[in-house]
Amino acid sequence: MADKALITGGAGFIGNHVARLLLGKGWEIVCYDDLSVGKGSYVPDGAELIVGDIRDGEKLIGAMRGARHVYHLAARVSIRKAVDTFIDDAEVNTLGSLMVLKAARDTGVERFQYASSMAVYGTVEYSPQDEDHPINPTSPYGIAKFASERYILTMGEQWGIEPVICRYFNTYGPRQTPSPYVGVITIFCRKLFTGETPIIFGDGEQVRDFIHVGDIARGSVMALENAPAGSVINFGTGIGTSVNEVAKILSDIINPEIEAAHTDPVPGEPGDSIANPGRAGELIGWIAEKKLEDAIVDAIEWNRGELKI
Ligand SMILES: NC(=O)c1ccc[n+]([C@@H]2O[C@H](COP(=O)([O-])OP(=O)(O)OC[C@H]3O[C@@H](n4cnc5c(N)ncnc54)[C@H](O)[C@@H]3O)[C@@H](O)[C@H]2O)c1
Repeated sequence: MADKALITGGAGFIGNHVARLLLGKGWEIVCYDDLSVGKGSYVPDGAELIVGDIRDGEKLIGAMRGARHVYHLAARVSIRKAVDTFIDDAEVNTLGSLMVLKAARDTGVERFQYASSMAVYGTVEYSPQDEDHPINPTSPYGIAKFASERYILTMGEQWGIEPVICRYFNTYGPRQTPSPYVGVITIFCRKLFTGETPIIFGDGEQVRDFIHVGDIARGSVMALENAPAGSVINFGTGIGTSVNEVAKILSDIINPEIEAAHTDPVPGEPGDSIANPGRAGELIGWIAEKKLEDAIVDAIEWNRGELKI
């Protein structure tokens, strides 16, 4: 019988790519998602979709029975929106994580992997940031993500579940549900295709480490299969690109007549963030393979297709 993995947030952007790769390796996959953002159509053929909230403990336990691995990605993912909706953010991103962890304990799961974020680092003290960079989250989202990391590492080890933490940097690529808050590349693609002006918060010189979802999914599967228990691993390219540069690349390709405009910076957004991905190389032999200049076309073409342009 195939090994079973349950992926919370499996109908979401990163989750569906991870589900595809695991299915290809012969795993039985259950995607558990409330479809608040994710879409049933993103779940690959061959995976089972169970629609439910991660805070529904009984439903989770039912879905998790027989799973060897759990990959917990379900979350409210907006750093910016969480500043206003911090109670809801904490309910899903911290208490929800605890519900998933408890269900894993109650059903005898062996390995529990968690999708965390570069947002846990917050204030940037040096760059590129390795996993030992000081933790000083500047947003409710970053705080909730870090609290979940600590619960998972501490309780997981005590309960004999192998915990693994993946800290993702800014991920782009196909099948990211558009939202006004998340995913600058998806947001700018949509604006440019529909003839609107992309809006940059602040002067646009803030640097991000943009990583293709294909690299993220491949690294996540490698971690699920091979990372030592207790690992905390950055997933980024190690290359920084400013938001201004991204806006320029996109407008050059999609609509050179539109130039991005600027508005006030958003409080709580991290400063320049670039990953030091060295540990992923050492522990699991992973390195990002896709370059932004080339791979950004995947995001552009997917959005073009969705908009039927
Ligand atoms: N996309 C990025 O750049 C990025 C960067 C760092 C970390 N992450 C983390 O990676 C994970 C996946 O993010 P994503 O970009 O795929 O976002 P996403 O919004 O596409 O995926 C999250 C999924 O969780 C589901 N969900 C939300 N609340 C739920 C609930 N209460 N119960 C069940 N399902 C629920 C949503 O419907 C969605 O399908 C998240 O934990 C996020 O914090 C993402």
